[in-house]
Amino acid sequence: MLFRKVSVIGAGSMGHGIAELVALAGYEVWLNDVSDEILKRALDRIRWSLSKLSEKGQIKEGVKEILSRIKVTVNQEEALRGSDLVIEAVLEDINVKKKVFAKADELASSEAILASNTSSLPITEIAQATKRPERVIGMHFFNPPVLMPLVEIIRGEKSSEESIKKAYDFAKAIGKEPVLVNKDLPGFLVNRILTRVQDIACYLVEKGKASVIEIDATSIYDLGFPMGVFLLADYTGLDIAYSVFKAMSERGFKAYDCKTIESKYREGNLGVKTGKGIYNYPAPGKYERPKIPFDKLRREISIILLSPAVNEAAMFLRERIATREDIDKACKLGLGWPKGILEYADEFGVDNVVKALESLWKEGLSYLAPDPLLIQMVKEGKIGKKVNSGFYDYEKEEERKFSTIIVRIEKPIAWITLNRPERLNAINDQLAKELNSALDELEEREEVRVIVITGTGKAFSAGADITSFIGLTPVKGMMLSRRLQELYNKIQFLTKPVIASINGYALGGGLELAMACDIRIASDKSQFGQPEINLGIIPGAGGTQRLPRIARKLTEIIYTGEMIDAKRALEGGLVDRVVEHQYLEQETRKIAMKLAEKPPLAIAAAKYAINFGLNTDIWTGLAYEASLFGILFSTKDVIEGVSAFLEKRRPNFKGE
Ligand code: CAA
Repeated sequence: MLFRKVSVIGAGSMGHGIAELVALAGYEVWLNDVSDEILKRALDRIRWSLSKLSEKGQIKEGVKEILSRIKVTVNQEEALRGSDLVIEAVLEDINVKKKVFAKADELASSEAILASNTSSLPITEIAQATKRPERVIGMHFFNPPVLMPLVEIIRGEKSSEESIKKAYDFAKAIGKEPVLVNKDLPGFLVNRILTRVQDIACYLVEKGKASVIEIDATSIYDLGFPMGVFLLADYTGLDIAYSVFKAMSERGFKAYDCKTIESKYREGNLGVKTGKGIYNYPAPGKYERPKIPFDKLRREISIILLSPAVNEAAMFLRERIATREDIDKACKLGLGWPKGILEYADEFGVDNVVKALESLWKEGLSYLAPDPLLIQMVKEGKIGKKVNSGFYDYEKEEERKFSTIIVRIEKPIAWITLNRPERLNAINDQLAKELNSALDELEEREEVRVIVITGTGKAFSAGADITSFIGLTPVKGMMLSRRLQELYNKIQFLTKPVIASINGYALGGGLELAMACDIRIASDKSQFGQPEINLGIIPGAGGTQRLPRIARKLTEIIYTGEMIDAKRALEGGLVDRVVEHQYLEQETRKIAMKLAEKPPLAIAAAKYAINFGLNTDIWTGLAYEASLFGILFSTKDVIEGVSAFLEKRRPNFKGE
């Protein structure tokens, strides 16, 4: 046990949760507030939360046992006397906090660490109320503390290394993921990053450059945020967004003055809690996700939304306020983003981020001048993933050139690009052989979890190479058909998922290749057809079998030989998604990455159940499914998946 007596002062929404968390970790904790009523309510909330955790099997001890470690008292002196760690979670009022700290200084043990859970007030100033500023630190939990893994440990001007270390170790001991913030800046780390995003979103809306829905659609569907920027503000409360922003600006944080949030706040429309905010909700306190259509997505604004936050993070790095790992961890754990802000920057390209900042700066947002670190990175050519070096270093992509295809490994994705653009990637004998050997090789490579097949130029593939048909005898024709069929069957037998990223014409054997893949994503410019009938033949690489099975309604194209566009292919079920041509690669990568994070053995089992089970009668198919389902319980991945669910963390599947 790192501390004998832990005290939490303030039993409101944060305080009661922190006390619960500390008790859960096996510590005795004193919880103090000004009235019995508040304390009773806090205990009720803790009891409710513990019983929920218990129902889900997430705690080993009984609820009573854990509760018995929480001592409540209205007597602050009793709570503080002899304490080894005090966590203050009272009102966000500097004078109230200072009083608590002065008392804590007087009564807690001489070695005690005094921590504030403030989200907006300066630790250094709070520390001035004590005679031990070296033992005063910030310990910022996120709401609700029991479920949110992140804790920001904030160094005040005088906080000692030892105090920081103790608080850091304690956060770990109670099962949290601490990040260290070495400077007591308004908003610390997470709120500064979030405010930068909210702020520029507001600017874009108020200047008529994007609508609220467009911003939210982009943040959800392109950036992968759990909620849209404005929806999140509504959800947490526009009063909170406004007061955090105000507290930060009063302490010198420069930003665009967002009138959209302020005016809603002044009208008393505070978001979900009042039933009306930036969006409307069915009733006060009743959250129903507003409709945010996919087609409102505007990918070009993603980089504008994030560049100011990248600038902020760059300043943190340059001034050594936080490490790059902690900055990104804070975004992922505190905001639920799928990537950290620096990882996003590496993907956008630091050069593009600088350009975005420069244009915002030219529009008059003077506080968005690109940070010197970003400028220096551009000068040194460290501009991100495209050159394998940015905020992070990336392993060099491996590229192997065959004569008709290119195989590029961008772990965990392998890209196979059909590369005979002058022949619209028509499949000749050489290409078929090379594709065959590339698939064999990739199946063996453990680091490859997903394979993508695409084409260079304006075609995915215009089919079998017609020039090789000259002089074909019936037997040779049949052999050609069988060879291609076997090649495409191989795709279905691979244990890895294969995505067809259809960039243009997918005709004849090209469409048949795409149909053997597990997922088909098409550019809006792509065209599909089985034109063999026009040549006096029929599809020979699975078209007559796979097309009716995948897209029954489109079978007629085998008879008519006509080409159909992406819209009709989507409606007929021939492709799974259609995206704007310029975003095809980006979308493909996003889906591939999603699959790559999943347990590889379960992915393989799903693929087999779908591909083979579906082509038998339902009883055999179901029996096959049940066997695969059962077999998966022999894997380590299922243990990892279930443990991660119970521990509320992201699983790390190894394919074992
Ligand atoms: N085989 C060999 N060469 C092909 C080809 C194919 N399948 N498809 C296109 N090419 C060649 C063209 O002959 C042309 O070559 P040149 O520059 O030497 O003239 C080059 O690729 C570029 O094509 P186009 O100039 O014709 O491009 P376009 O945009 O004007 O037209 C097209 C595109 C409509 C796809 C047209 O090329 C076309 O009809 N191609 C044939 C498509 C076809 O019939 N595919 C089925 C093949 S049979 C098959 O696949 C059997 C099977 O089931 C296994």
